[in-house]
Amino acid sequence: MNSLSVDHMLGIKYLTKKDIDLIFQTADNFKKIINQPIKKVPSLRDVTIANLFFENSTRTKLSFELAEKRLSADVINFSSASSSVKKGETLLDTVNNILAMKVDIIVMRHPNPGASVFLSRNISAKIVNAGDGTHEHPTQALLDSFSIREKYGQVAGKKIVIIGDILHSRVALSNIYCLKKLGAEVGVCGPSTLMPKYLDSLGVNHFSSLNNALKWCDVANVLRIQLERQDVQLLPSLREYSNVFGINKKVLDNLDKKITIMHPGPINRGVELTSDVADSEHSIILNQVENGVAIRMAVLYLLSIKKN
Ligand code: CP
Repeated sequence: MNSLSVDHMLGIKYLTKKDIDLIFQTADNFKKIINQPIKKVPSLRDVTIANLFFENSTRTKLSFELAEKRLSADVINFSSASSSVKKGETLLDTVNNILAMKVDIIVMRHPNPGASVFLSRNISAKIVNAGDGTHEHPTQALLDSFSIREKYGQVAGKKIVIIGDILHSRVALSNIYCLKKLGAEVGVCGPSTLMPKYLDSLGVNHFSSLNNALKWCDVANVLRIQLERQDVQLLPSLREYSNVFGINKKVLDNLDKKITIMHPGPINRGVELTSDVADSEHSIILNQVENGVAIRMAVLYLLSIKKN
């Protein structure tokens, strides 16, 4: 039987192209199922999953929970805001207490890069990284590439530019790894203060002009400016950012071709995208959200059948 090369979903960095293809093929089947009148399958019956969110989330948390319920798993939810973490309990103690209740898979979002890798080395459950600080957000990158594949038939050979705060973005890093493994050409565009120093090592094209980036690409994946992750002010103002790197309908109308607009959410409307772009026929933003459930079902299912 086909199976993943990894025991945990910690980052795209650890996956092979074969893993990604297997996840996509499995997600194709789950997407068909969740579009039928009976959306539930018994694949994860008797599997217990804990969703541990130490950081805010709307899409990822709800998408994982729905994916788990569609697979008939037993689900428990934990949010650090209302937990004993507030009383000083360590991450390992918190997780070991949850595991004592016989949990099989942990889905975790955490503000610290490497938190999921740390857990995978210290506990026996399977770990799924739902975003760890500025490091990786693997299921977001998988659903993004899956959405590009759905739109164009394949990812290989497509030109994707990621626009915005590359420095602080786990979505950017996971997308770069995923797109390159699938044979896409990748560009990044944004203010030089929001580009990582190790950019050259990632093998991506760098655009300082938004117009040149959009003329080059087939798809623009637009990121949110993450002011909450900036210790020092790296931009003069959001208004200035928007004037130089924001995408509005006029910018798109001035191109001599149609491009696809993606965004992982949450959108700062009027900053990185105007509403007439976010809600236009160019946008596949809600398709990304829909595909997230099928991708997360595939990841959870494939991890659950993987023998250690
Ligand atoms: N895309 C994404 O991770 O969104 P949330 O922060 O709402 O989960």
